[in-house]
Parts: sequence; structure tokens; C-alpha cells
Amino acid sequence: MIGTSTLEAPVSDQIDSSTAQPARRYNYWLGGKDNFAVDRASGDEILKTFPTARIAALENRRFLQRATRFLAAEAGIRQFLDIGTGLPTADNTHEVAQGIAPESRVVYVDNDPMVMVHARALLTSTPAGRTTYLEADLRSPETILADPELRETLDLGRPVALMLVAVLHFIEGYGAGAPIVRTLMDALPSGSFLVATNSTKDPLPPKMAADYDAALAAGITNIWPRDRAEFTALFDGLELVEPGVTPVSEWRSEGETEPRPNPAHVAMYGGVARKP
Ligand SMILES: C[S@@+](CC[C@H](N)C(=O)[O-])C[C@H]1O[C@@H](n2cnc3c(N)ncnc32)[C@H](O)[C@@H]1O
Repeated sequence: MIGTSTLEAPVSDQIDSSTAQPARRYNYWLGGKDNFAVDRASGDEILKTFPTARIAALENRRFLQRATRFLAAEAGIRQFLDIGTGLPTADNTHEVAQGIAPESRVVYVDNDPMVMVHARALLTSTPAGRTTYLEADLRSPETILADPELRETLDLGRPVALMLVAVLHFIEGYGAGAPIVRTLMDALPSGSFLVATNSTKDPLPPKMAADYDAALAAGITNIWPRDRAEFTALFDGLELVEPGVTPVSEWRSEGETEPRPNPAHVAMYGGVARKP
């Protein structure tokens, strides 16, 4: 389902409060109120295996904001395609970008109807810029790219930053993320950027890594981890911006509070790269 006009059922009928949803669980970890009992139960269950999931969520948000600031202030990017929007919280992509360049244009995409309801209500643009919201699935990148609202908002002849922050790990399977990223980046011109983060087991002690595997097998979590090689391959053909692929908490984190968290408490890779 794409855009506002094609909603076929009232939104309240589309919101599934009986199954945990990633956006609401993440909202719970970030201390938000837009979540149901089932999301809190799922979040608590994951915290048993990965007790620092809240730190990971907060550090991922900080990465998103630093990366957006870099794109707007240093790389001159004025167009953003942010897939996996999440429930609105402070300093979303358009707020950071439009705080630097009010004319910035942002297309937010998420497959959770509840995210879309909140986003349309709360993620309002500066008069000079524009924000658009599409309900669509990252697994159908061609559908996202063909959407008329996206085409009205973004000029795909000019550089765009593709933001895939804490969403690729909902695409399960080794190598499953790369073709999606490739399809999206192929549609964007030279000078565009890819920003991505993904959960990883790499820094985890063996017992925690085994517990993560067990939680995946048992369906307690659907957050699919990627190792450094698989994550780095997402940026094939692009020029990684310094400092390259790092734990999200270490990427251009000079202005952040010290000490930085232990990478094992974050367990998430991040990177930013430019299309040559
Ligand atoms: C953990 S939140 C990340 C929010 C934000 N990008 C951030 O980093 O703070 C993940 C978001 O991705 C969305 N999502 C998960 N799978 C998706 C898919 N296949 N297509 C589109 N959105 C998806 C969820 O609904 C949720 O809003």
C-alpha cells in the first residue's frame, strides 16, 4: 500500500496490537509511550539475551543524527530517502537536515501503518522544504522508486541520501540486503550517499553470540545480524567516508560524551558512503 490515498481499511483496523512490531519495540527501548503490552514483552524478552539493547537503540539514533548532520552540513545533500522511519522521536532526519538547510526534502518510508499515522501528524516540514510519507516495504525497492509521491518530492537527477538505519536487519538471510541496496542506489545519481546500520554479533562474547543465535532460532528476535564482511559488502562500488565501517557509537563520535560505550554493548555496525 502506497501513500495516503490507497488506504483501504481504517488505520485502526490495520494496526496489529497482538503482535510485537519493531517500531513500537524500539520506541519502548528509547523510553517512548507509543507501544503496546506485546511490544514491551518482546522488548523485555530480547533484553534477557541482549541486556544492553537500549544502549544500542540510543547509539543508533545518535549515529543517524551525526550522519544526517554530515550529509547536510559537509556533503551539501538536500534530498533524503529515509526507509524504516520509526515512530517519531526527537531530531528525526528532516529536523536535523532542515535545521541546517531548510529547503531539504525528505521522503519517509515505513511498512508499519502506526508509524505512518504518527509520521503524518508529527513529522512536519519547514515551509521551504518538503516531507512525504509512503507506506511501503523495503523488500519491494522498485515499488518505492516508482511511487509518484516520491517522484514529486525528490529529483532523482540530483544527489539523494539513502538512509537505511536500523532497518536492513529486518531483511533476513545472508546476502539478502545487498540486492535491495543495489536496486535503490542504482536509481540514484553520482554524488548520492548510502547511510546504513545493521545489528552484528561480531563484538559479542561467544556465550552471548550463541544466545543470539538461539533467540533467532526460537523466534524471540527477528533482528538479523550481519558480520563485518557482509555489512561492508553493502557498500560495494561506493566510496566509504572516513572512518569507514565502525560500531555506530564510534562513527565521527568526537563530540559525544566519553567514555564511548563498549562496542559489545552496542553490537551494531554503521557506515556512510558516496556514489562516485
Ligand atoms: C528500529 S526502527 C529504526 C527507526 C529509525 N530509522 C532509526 O534508526 O532510529 C526500524 C523501522 O523499520 C521499519 N521496518 C521494518 N521492516 C521494514 C520493511 N521491510 N520495510 C519498511 N520498513 C520496515 C519498522 O516499522 C521500524 O519503523
